Amino acid sequence: PEAPAPRIAVLGTGYLGATHAVAMAQLGMEVVGVDTDPNKVAMLTAGKVPFYEPGLPELLAEQLATGRLRFTTDVAEAVGWADVHFVCVGTPQSKTSHAADLRFVEAATTSIAQNLTHDALIVGKSTVPVGTGARLRTLVAQAAPAGVRAELVWNPEFLREGKAVADTLHPDRIVLGGTTADSEALLRRVYAGPIAEGSPVVVCDLPTAELVKVSANAFLATKISFINAISAVCEAAGADVKVLADALGHDIRIGRQFLDAGLGFGGGCLPKDIRALMHRANELGAHQASALLQQVDEINMGQRSRVIELALEACGGSVLNRRIGVLGAAFKPHTDDVRDSPALNVAAALHLRGAQVTVYDPEAGDTARASYPTLGYATGVDEAVEGSDVVLVLTEWDEFVTAEPARLATLAKNPSVIDARGKLDAARWRDAGWSFRGLGRAAA
Ligand code: UGA
Repeated sequence: PEAPAPRIAVLGTGYLGATHAVAMAQLGMEVVGVDTDPNKVAMLTAGKVPFYEPGLPELLAEQLATGRLRFTTDVAEAVGWADVHFVCVGTPQSKTSHAADLRFVEAATTSIAQNLTHDALIVGKSTVPVGTGARLRTLVAQAAPAGVRAELVWNPEFLREGKAVADTLHPDRIVLGGTTADSEALLRRVYAGPIAEGSPVVVCDLPTAELVKVSANAFLATKISFINAISAVCEAAGADVKVLADALGHDIRIGRQFLDAGLGFGGGCLPKDIRALMHRANELGAHQASALLQQVDEINMGQRSRVIELALEACGGSVLNRRIGVLGAAFKPHTDDVRDSPALNVAAALHLRGAQVTVYDPEAGDTARASYPTLGYATGVDEAVEGSDVVLVLTEWDEFVTAEPARLATLAKNPSVIDARGKLDAARWRDAGWSFRGLGRAAA
């Protein structure tokens, strides 16, 4: 007879954990999501997702209704009940260096080990510096009760915010690091659905699995900084970076994705992950890898300065007391996440230089206000544009791309727009009377 489906515990119910818990229930397993924050647990139990993620609220409600999914703060109960324990807590950038802060991962892993009542598999999903899993194995061995066998493996997650559900249920690949024959078989049962649908499985050692994850993000970041570096050449030479990126993208070895030049990458992952890898590579003596990523980071941050410069130029050299309409606060569209948001970083810098900045974002208004309370906030595009000396498009929400430039021109004090994401139709805006500047495109 077939063994019963493994019971799943998911520690940490942020972006990664909440999505993972819901997805595991969707695949037919019984799941408990565990968090130390009682507010998050109460919200999720009530069917509310504490962040904006398209499709997740519907799936959460559906899975709660099946009775397979629940949430708790009681780690001892959850760990005593489950067979497979996913570690999905955050690894933020440390406050004092580029290194990742591993406190939450260590605490979660230790508390799993301490509360085990039977043999179990601990599966790290959080993004960690290479070598972390090996250290955690020692912690687990010390903390687990006598007679209980606990194995620890790494199974990194590659989900994108805004596409979290689809990425979790249909991953590009499933990486299983440091497994034994038994734990590999167990995880293949957990992921039977996606595997049956064609997700390839890569079985490897622990350090390779840890490194696959950060290397993937480092590569994506490098691609973005590459096109942004080239965009400066385009601007100086009178070439158009968008057409160039399309032409490059036709080469399938290069590919068109992640070649959108503009304000660069932000969010809770790419910036901190490349910095953590820079730091770790240096520790390991791989200084050139570190130097490469340092450049990627610098080019990325330079794009923010470049947009600030363009805003200064548009205002005749100083933004003091100028009204600046900022469209976009989230680090990318389809999320309300403002962690390391390039848009808010630019908005705040202009505010510091004495501009009156009014920000509008379709979803991230509340999270933006919580992090940047001194900026002004509008409830719509019109209100942000009204009376402005310059408008900056800093996140490429559809609402901004499809906005009607002719009507908006009547609202602005001075119809001047800076498209920092390269998604607006320059000719349309110019025809409507706007002075238009974009990154990587010659000024007309
Ligand atoms: C990223 C990775 O894409 C995921 O695969 C990974 O799992 C995740 O980090 C993570 O480590 O958890 P995410 O942070 O959700 O996902 O965002 P992306 O869609 O990768 O975008 C990152 C940033 O790059 C955004 O600020 C976006 O505006 C910028 N970007 C993206 C560009 O500037 N140009 C592009 O062409 C593409």
